[in-house]
Amino acid sequence: MAVITNIEDLKRIYERRVPRMFYDYAESGSWTEQTFRENSSDFDLIRLRQRVAVDMSGRSTASQMVGQDVAMPVALAPVGLTGMQNADGEIKAARAANEFGVPFTLSTMSINSIEEVAEATGRPFWFQLYTMRDTDYTSRLIQRAKAAKCSALVITLDLQILGQRHKDLKNGLSAPPKLTPKTIANLMTKWAWGIEMLGAKRRNFGNIVGHVHGVSDTANLGAWTAEQFDPTLDWGKVAKLMEQWNGKVILKGILDAEDAKMAAKLGADAIVVSNHGGRQLDGALSSIRVLPEIMDAVGGDIEVHLDSGIRSGQDVLKALALGAKGTMIGRAFVYGLGAMGQAGVTKALEVIHRELDVTMALCGEKNVANLGRHNLLVPEDFGGRWA
Ligand SMILES: Cc1cc2nc3c(=O)[nH]c(=O)nc-3n(C[C@H](O)[C@H](O)[C@H](O)COP(=O)(O)O)c2cc1C
Repeated sequence: MAVITNIEDLKRIYERRVPRMFYDYAESGSWTEQTFRENSSDFDLIRLRQRVAVDMSGRSTASQMVGQDVAMPVALAPVGLTGMQNADGEIKAARAANEFGVPFTLSTMSINSIEEVAEATGRPFWFQLYTMRDTDYTSRLIQRAKAAKCSALVITLDLQILGQRHKDLKNGLSAPPKLTPKTIANLMTKWAWGIEMLGAKRRNFGNIVGHVHGVSDTANLGAWTAEQFDPTLDWGKVAKLMEQWNGKVILKGILDAEDAKMAAKLGADAIVVSNHGGRQLDGALSSIRVLPEIMDAVGGDIEVHLDSGIRSGQDVLKALALGAKGTMIGRAFVYGLGAMGQAGVTKALEVIHRELDVTMALCGEKNVANLGRHNLLVPEDFGGRWA
């Protein structure tokens, strides 16, 4: 077995192992993929300040996210169809997160259902909510997450309609995959994936099938989304959802200081500065580029998390040093899951943890709580001059 030393190694194995349609689904951004690319390349513009002759013993990456203890401030982001990347993928990822001591977030568009993940893990996880036109269904989702003792509700605000990813349309993305000559030819080269998938608890959308009145065919994600997601979601509705949940709330998909202020005014527990991993508004700024402005606007009022583009512990450190209290990783854990199942997610977390810890030490810090702007060299025009 190859020696895995970084997230890119996991990605290479993942690409070999998983059917093309699901690899492309994860490894794409919308339209030209400019925002998808810049999410990562903008991290590279920030450099680190090396410090020496500092006692590096007794380091700690432990922290808190929305009041919960975490081994490091890195949560697994909600990722739809995780159970198509690897059989029972949501359960495996949740178990790996539990063992590592970081939060797992279950997507509304998961394969394993809320109940299946709760039963298999026995530990509270976060639930990510997409709001649907069918308000009874949305309410039932919230009740189900409550019954499963989810410890936070992550309300995603940047996907009332779906951004277009060319490859998903060309591949005819569906769960389970539709058998066309092209998919059959590809699946024949992915036999290990297929054998495991035959034994999976589930191969369709566990939170939807059997729970949505009048929707029988959820195989086509694009069509179902266009038909069911609520395009009328506004701040008033967000406030009502928060009331209904009556627990910890994280508002995800904030990329603008004005929206961040609204989220803080509503009394959310945290926001996730995110552009959905470059999958929604192509041409939007990267998350890391807008973080300083959002910290200036609301840093003292609300806990700020960041995702989109994180591929290393160094990226995590840069986000923390710019003021984020926590981060989320999407693709980085999906690569691990697709490559090696639960052990691969653990591997991804270990890689990121080690990179974060060593980088922190070489920057002369012993605790993530002490990271700050003083650890970074940020280009003067990093925020950009936009009129
Ligand atoms: C394959 C895939 C599916 C996703 N599905 C969801 C989802 O169902 N709900 C959601 O809020 N965000 C979803 N996201 C966005 C992630 O939660 C997260 O914002 C993004 O992956 C962060 O960027 P990164 O992948 O560069 O880490 C998805 C992202 C990917 C890559």
